[in-house]
Amino acid sequence: MTTMHAPAKSASSSGSSGRIYNFGAGPSVLPEEVIRQIQEDVWNYKGCGMGVLEISHRGKQYDAMIAEIDKDLREVGGIPANYRILFMTGGASSQNYIVPANLLPKGGTADYIITGYWGEKSAEDAQQYAKCHNAGATVHIAGTSKDKNHSYIPGDDQIRYSARPAYVHMTSNNTIYGTQWKRVPAAPAGVPLVCDASSDIFSEPIDVTKYGVIYGGAQKNLGTTGTTFVIIRDDLVAGANKDIPKMLQYGTFAKDESRPNTPPTFAIYTVGLMAKWIKKQGGLKALAAANAAKAKLIYDVLDGSAYWKPHARKDSRSLMNITFRLGTEALEEKFLSEAKAQGIDGIKGHRATGGMRVSIYNAFPKAGCEAMAQFMKDFEKRNG
Ligand SMILES: Cc1ncc(COP(=O)(O)O)c(C=O)c1O
Repeated sequence: MTTMHAPAKSASSSGSSGRIYNFGAGPSVLPEEVIRQIQEDVWNYKGCGMGVLEISHRGKQYDAMIAEIDKDLREVGGIPANYRILFMTGGASSQNYIVPANLLPKGGTADYIITGYWGEKSAEDAQQYAKCHNAGATVHIAGTSKDKNHSYIPGDDQIRYSARPAYVHMTSNNTIYGTQWKRVPAAPAGVPLVCDASSDIFSEPIDVTKYGVIYGGAQKNLGTTGTTFVIIRDDLVAGANKDIPKMLQYGTFAKDESRPNTPPTFAIYTVGLMAKWIKKQGGLKALAAANAAKAKLIYDVLDGSAYWKPHARKDSRSLMNITFRLGTEALEEKFLSEAKAQGIDGIKGHRATGGMRVSIYNAFPKAGCEAMAQFMKDFEKRNG
């Protein structure tokens, strides 16, 4: 795996690179070689005399770029020919109403499995959409982990689907709570599974055929902010509601190569670079092994003593976002400020969990996890 340059020992004396270990939850770190490529392409994209920020979305450079991104993503993710890869805008948050707008028929029911903050938001917006636009449609909460502050992923025996859901919605990785599905939920046969995969897309091999829709913001695992990827099966595009505004319809984006209007060309371009980078790492299998090894370095410290208070139940732990607390808030403040002084940033937990959140997406280097683990051990020694 490509390693980033050595980190700063301290933020104030950051050495020649000037870069620190950015554990931010998103937008987040990109691989060094991707950043260097962007630097080149911003000046002159593939020798065309224009920078990548300046090319037209109707020009031949962009025609070639979008075709190559489609090809590379299909190769990386094993995305079959009967799925479209769309690039939309508005983030994963906008899919909260775009999904029901397209897939929830009048009088229908959509099932939601809520395993965290973002799943809750998805269900709330679907409820709002059903109330305002899709007469008689309802949202059914099929399962939730709220009883234990979303510290676990419910088992199939804890999920109760409605009689005939139009779709089942899930969140594969819970960015804020640090939990992740280790299986595909057993949704009723023939019912499309809609997955918000914002924070773990392409972090491990994925069987796309188990899903009807997989979507997310690109800004964590797959590029920078500005575009939302939507991987959707053809029959769902064809059967989607047509009585909604054109720019909300999946069909509009499928028909027009995701450029019915001016698309976020730069963000989409970075997705292309990430697809090539993933290929170069050996694909999703290799990336999954690397991600597991990175996460283990930190979980091993958390499991090493009762000093650490991990949030997620062991069987539900995320390999992307690791959440934990210390004995007191004062100690947590100390931890955050000492980490910052060592060139470790972006680890303050979300207010829903407090404490710390260490985000280690695909591009995050192993050396950064080693530095974090060492810092934790040292901190415990000094403050235990
Ligand atoms: C799992 C998940 N879903 C949705 C969102 C919201 O994404 P966006 O900011 O792209 O709307 C996030 C953001 O962190 C997320 O982690």
